[in-house]
Amino acid sequence: MQLVFATNNLNKLKEVQSIIPNQIQLLSLEDIGCHEDIPETKNTIEGNAIQKAEYLKERYGYDCFADDTGLEVDALNGEPGVYSARYGGEQRDANANMDKLLENLKEQPNRNAQFKTVIALCFRGKLHTFTGICKGVITTKKHGIEGFGYDPIFKADGYEKTFAEISLEEKNRIGHRGKAVKQLVEFLSI
Ligand code: IMP
Repeated sequence: MQLVFATNNLNKLKEVQSIIPNQIQLLSLEDIGCHEDIPETKNTIEGNAIQKAEYLKERYGYDCFADDTGLEVDALNGEPGVYSARYGGEQRDANANMDKLLENLKEQPNRNAQFKTVIALCFRGKLHTFTGICKGVITTKKHGIEGFGYDPIFKADGYEKTFAEISLEEKNRIGHRGKAVKQLVEFLSI
């Protein structure tokens, strides 16, 4: 079975590819000759995932899935949430995003947060969504060099290390995207 994953983010492609069984051949946007920016203009994580998957299906015709992720911080009423990628500015720089978040949480004792991933799948003419959540805390400093985005400042509940200090396998096992992808895989294996 061939399925297009609507992302240009090589880190995500690597993460997802390591969970998806070999019977499902993942195609990237590059593989199907899609070089345009897929619109992401909704104001919810779920809305953006659905928008991206439906856009791709309508324009290119492939069965496909898209994901959208946000980091929701309790003390900031769920911010940056759907705006996680450009929290620190339009340049979408991970360090700028983390610096702004650490600054906004300075001297804040409640550091609870969660990553939320929604995957929208267009499959055999129907739309399906899968949600994965990983709860944890925002650290006071950056630790580690693995992963991407906010990984250096996020510790999953029960972990002493940030997502940037653990292996990809471990992150997939406990992480938001891994949980959503596992539901996708279960659905496709039925
Ligand atoms: P996207 O919409 O899935 O690309 O995610 C939006 C933003 O959330 C990204 O630009 C990253 O800043 C952040 N993000 C998404 N997934 C992760 C993750 O697994 N770890 C850390 N940050 C992430």
